[in-house]
Amino acid sequence: MELQKYEQEHLDILRPLLPECTVLLKKNGDFPLGKPGKIALYGNGVRKTVKGGTGSGEVNSRFFEIVEDGFQKAGFEIVSRDWLDAYDEIYDKAQAGFTEEIRRRAQEHHTHPVIEGMGAVMPEPEYDLPLNVKGETAIYVLARISGEGNDREAREGDIFLTESERRTILELKRQYRRFMLVLNVGGPVDLSPVMEVENILILSQLGVQTGSALADLVLGKTYPSGKLTTTWTKWKDYPDFASFGEQDDTRYQEGIYVGYRYFDSVDKEVLFPFGYGVSYTNFEVRFKGLKLDKMTAEIGAEVVNIGDFCGKEVVQLYVSVPEGKLDQPYQTLASWKKTEELKPGEKQTVELSFLLTDLASYDEEQAAWILEQGEYTLRMGNSSRDTEVCGVISVPETLVIKSVKNCFGKPDFTDWKPERKRKDRVGKKIQSLEADISSVDIVKVVYEHKDEPMPEMEGFSDEELISLNVGAFVAGGGVTGIIGNASMSVAGAAGETAKVGEIPVIVMADGPAGLRLSQKCFRDENGIHSLGSTMPETMQNLLTEDERAYMNSMIPQPGEDSEIFEQYATAIPIGTAIAQSWNPLLAERCGDIVGSEMERFGIHLWLAPALNIHRSIRCGRNYEYFSEDPLISGVFAAALTKGVQSHPGCGVTIKHFAANNQETNRYNNNSIVSERALREIYLKGFEICVRLAQPKALMTSYNLLNGKHTSEHRELLEDVLRCEFEFDGIVMTDWVTSSDILSADAKYPAPEAYKVALAGNDLFMPGSQQEIDNLTAALKNGHITREELIKNAIRICRMAVELAGASV
Ligand code: BGC
Repeated sequence: MELQKYEQEHLDILRPLLPECTVLLKKNGDFPLGKPGKIALYGNGVRKTVKGGTGSGEVNSRFFEIVEDGFQKAGFEIVSRDWLDAYDEIYDKAQAGFTEEIRRRAQEHHTHPVIEGMGAVMPEPEYDLPLNVKGETAIYVLARISGEGNDREAREGDIFLTESERRTILELKRQYRRFMLVLNVGGPVDLSPVMEVENILILSQLGVQTGSALADLVLGKTYPSGKLTTTWTKWKDYPDFASFGEQDDTRYQEGIYVGYRYFDSVDKEVLFPFGYGVSYTNFEVRFKGLKLDKMTAEIGAEVVNIGDFCGKEVVQLYVSVPEGKLDQPYQTLASWKKTEELKPGEKQTVELSFLLTDLASYDEEQAAWILEQGEYTLRMGNSSRDTEVCGVISVPETLVIKSVKNCFGKPDFTDWKPERKRKDRVGKKIQSLEADISSVDIVKVVYEHKDEPMPEMEGFSDEELISLNVGAFVAGGGVTGIIGNASMSVAGAAGETAKVGEIPVIVMADGPAGLRLSQKCFRDENGIHSLGSTMPETMQNLLTEDERAYMNSMIPQPGEDSEIFEQYATAIPIGTAIAQSWNPLLAERCGDIVGSEMERFGIHLWLAPALNIHRSIRCGRNYEYFSEDPLISGVFAAALTKGVQSHPGCGVTIKHFAANNQETNRYNNNSIVSERALREIYLKGFEICVRLAQPKALMTSYNLLNGKHTSEHRELLEDVLRCEFEFDGIVMTDWVTSSDILSADAKYPAPEAYKVALAGNDLFMPGSQQEIDNLTAALKNGHITREELIKNAIRICRMAVELAGASV
């Protein structure tokens, strides 16, 4: 297999970065091995290695290295091939049974098997295979996959281990002198039954070189230096007071107590806390002083590598905000710094800093962000549970930092708060400083978003204006109309804007684990087409013979003169893995790789990064998202944005705005969230990303927010996003918002076209005749004016000119 130069270059950049995304949960010193030798590899992840999840987040790279290949290439002798072959047989049989099961369920639900099967994950099959291979060293690779359209389940083979997995893992631990459990997963599994295993590594899902990255780590050519961005604990200990996976209405009753904000506040033991991860080596972190410059706190720390291997450490700073009018979680992540590589004995001083005003909380009563008077306790350490108080900053009086307006209504519940909260333990000798609040300027948001006028727009006809508001589509549908594959300019890209006059077309392709394009395509007199079917094999298996034959007959075939070309994109680590590096520069490098491939293939907008919060570990798309923490989410989204947008003509599309935290009934679920929780947890990351990196575009979500579709939510898009966050890019819908995708018994109606356009959602994607017709009717009957359409069209035109180069 010959790679093109850019592919090799991108793999070479990524390879040394990958171990930073892995998290070592437990170690006893038996690993790394130092040199290759005989090794027994077990588990579903050895050959069915997962490089990333399913759905629009899947990337069609030229190849990818499974774990078996990685070890083979690294010079290991794999002695467990009989076990792996026997497992394959069991897996294939289970797969055939699962396809039948999907067909049966589709019949029961009166739907098509392809719809029923979207994102459906085959339960991991049980097995009883002999473990009779002698040897010193064994590794069990446990894999899980999930994706768009379905949530994960608290059942064996998903969040829980199967009986076979438990038995095999524990037996291997007893049988081998050295044993490691490796987790090739996109989110937590309940590890409680196997906690006696002494070496556990979250490999995560790292894209093309997932297998080689593991071999490098096991050999000690590299070392893990990632930290958890979401709490891993027993399933039964995740809070169950908040609803998840409800069909129609999902009440976010936990309010702001999401992830570690909950666990730390109620002082619940967890298996592996937020921010946790060890390394082959050990570190000592010493506090080196606190300074306060007006409202900016600066904290110094010295990190010493006191072990025998090279490594990198992440110093984390959490702040306990005083409770006053508002209740507060025990602590909130305020800042962090990752060291350079430290050799044994080497040390580095790092500076952490944060703005006190960034810790303001949202007071619904005053419709304002306030910083309450009192003592702010600073805690430094290397996980949310391993910190020491390093200083106290007092704020002499309560300040209104930003005065806004309430935009989201009131839910039918009051947010949960803990009855008893973990107490502070602040030593007497702690340095204490007082903030100089005279430097704080109160911001009063003015809700008027003005776009520069564009007189040329007056010359456009109504039809042209409407076309600019709706993505390009092929009349009558056809294969290009398939969700996530609707572009006519680039095969396999998700969609594009309409060609109107001289306005250039904006082409968009999915992510977030790289660029999702067709691998091979051809050009003929009718345009560009993917070569062969773009439907994944598992989906094709759900078609009847006739449907398959029909689909195949619809696939354009290259003629003799057709030019065939390749579009291989690099699969980068999944969003969660990137964030686990706690290294924003790593994310920027990943963005840079994506940006350069966008330039190569003619893509203007990447439909990523995705930064919804890990509200529950059950969300099927969590692997695309970064964290349970909004600061981590915002900073990593911004870093990827910077990487992509450093390429001329390339922009990102942050998604899915907002409160899109489950896949169950994703088109029609109503997230019911308090204004405070929404602003502090679910919108915060988007705000941070906009402030730090000004992404070119944003995608609204399918769900409703407190009874209103986000795509129709004018307060969300115009007031909060544009006026408060000062977002300057374009807003588009998620793919297909029409009633066609709703089931007959949907509780809420689909978004209405004119309301979407009036809300400041500039673009319907991927576009359809229905939206053109609806907007045309709305213009005729006065639901929308020409001026309103012009307002959206101006934004599209500006972005088209900026990204796609030509002038109007
Ligand atoms: C997903 C988006 C994606 C779009 C285009 C939708 O189903 O929710 O994340 O960007 O499809 O493929």
